[in-house]
Amino acid sequence: MKKRVGIEALAVAVPSRYVDIEDLARARGVDPAKFTSGLGAREMAVTDPGEDTVALAATAAARLIQQQGVDTSRIGMLVVGTETGIDHSKPVASHVQGLLKLPRTMRTFDTQHACYGGTAGLMAATEWIASGAGAGKVAIVICSDIARYGLNTAGEPTQGGGAVALLVSEQPDLLALDVGLNGTCTMDVYDFWRPVGRREALVDGHYSINCYLEALSGAYRGWREKALEHGLVRWSGTMPGEQLARIAYHVPFCKMARKAHTQLRLCDLEDAVGPGPGTPEAREEVAKSSASYDAQVATSLGLNSRIGNVYTASLYLALAGLLQREGAQLASQRIGLLSYGSGCMAEFYSGVVGEKAAERMARADLEGVLARRERVSIEEYERLMKLPSDSPEAKAPAPGTFRLAEIRDHKRIYVEGGAA
Ligand code: HMG
Repeated sequence: MKKRVGIEALAVAVPSRYVDIEDLARARGVDPAKFTSGLGAREMAVTDPGEDTVALAATAAARLIQQQGVDTSRIGMLVVGTETGIDHSKPVASHVQGLLKLPRTMRTFDTQHACYGGTAGLMAATEWIASGAGAGKVAIVICSDIARYGLNTAGEPTQGGGAVALLVSEQPDLLALDVGLNGTCTMDVYDFWRPVGRREALVDGHYSINCYLEALSGAYRGWREKALEHGLVRWSGTMPGEQLARIAYHVPFCKMARKAHTQLRLCDLEDAVGPGPGTPEAREEVAKSSASYDAQVATSLGLNSRIGNVYTASLYLALAGLLQREGAQLASQRIGLLSYGSGCMAEFYSGVVGEKAAERMARADLEGVLARRERVSIEEYERLMKLPSDSPEAKAPAPGTFRLAEIRDHKRIYVEGGAA
């Protein structure tokens, strides 16, 4: 019998501060509706240099182990997907191994491909387990990033930061993946990039949206072909994409998920066999259906709208938000997931929500994680943004979290807050 493999549990770490997106709009002289309804944002996570990629990753992994009672001797692989690396050579994963005193027998490495890096890690871990090479061990995949475009840029309201740690195993209580049915699409484009040595990303914003949509189309069609072949979806009654109970998208800003969903529906409408809306205009109209967006996508965006873009972690925040809200109703139902990373790469995959999803998500205490944050003014946010990345403030970490304390002889030294 084929192994069931997928995500057993997850945990989320967020920076300790955030700004209200309407405060940011007012400070920039922009109509707040542009950020709230135009981009779909409510709040935006703000990091200080002490809350770097390692600190967020270690906090998320420690939380996962503690909340879900993970037996650390069973961890055989630790992967960190990030595009906010802190060293050209030493991986974030090795810091996490040391900080959490995880087994020295593990395989550890980082994966990088813009926002797609976390999914690359998830697939490596899943296929390692599915192949039997894991020999009964489990994997932890951490997506940890800080999205930073800079003050007074068009990308500014789409910043954010945080980490999601995923436990991957043969007991997929959250999501059993349809291993091998993934659809992929890659293109060599300069839509968003961060040359070595720069803290802020460079982005061709509107072009990046088009790249996302084009890559989505290729990845979705690739998945759909395999899903049709395996009888997971059909060209009868409703469209194949509508046969997925929910779809979680990569969310650089919430409005993007609406655009993505319209594009996915257009793929089905354009390729449909049999009668359907004939003209491109009619197809566009049906693709934009608010009812379909409300039913399949909207409930996944609660966390994203309050944290902002977290690059590799954004898709997994959408998954977390979805299962937090609807884990019980979705048990045994198939959902779709679309990962996108600039540069670019898209992957569409699917999985079946586990019977214990609601119970596992309750342990993740996501409301508590958000409630412990402090709202800061725009002046304070600007002060934090201007701090040099190598000089963290002397601040005690909150219980159960890690912070970068100092960099000594080019070595990063972290401290851990007391018991959570
Ligand atoms: P912009 O040019 O300032 O905004 O930047 P805009 O003029 O396009 O307006 C945005 C939306 O607000 C539009 O809605 C406006 O109509 C609406 P749309 O037409 O798109 O539906 N709007 C209003 N709504 C209500 N009231 C108003 C109002 N005014 C305007 N008064 C942009 C927007 C997203 C380009 C910018 O923020 C940016 O460059 N962000 C960063 C890039 C990005 O997020 N790209 C997404 C795709 S690429 C990706 O996802 C990969 C990524 O995560 C990185 C990685 O892979 O590592 C970014």
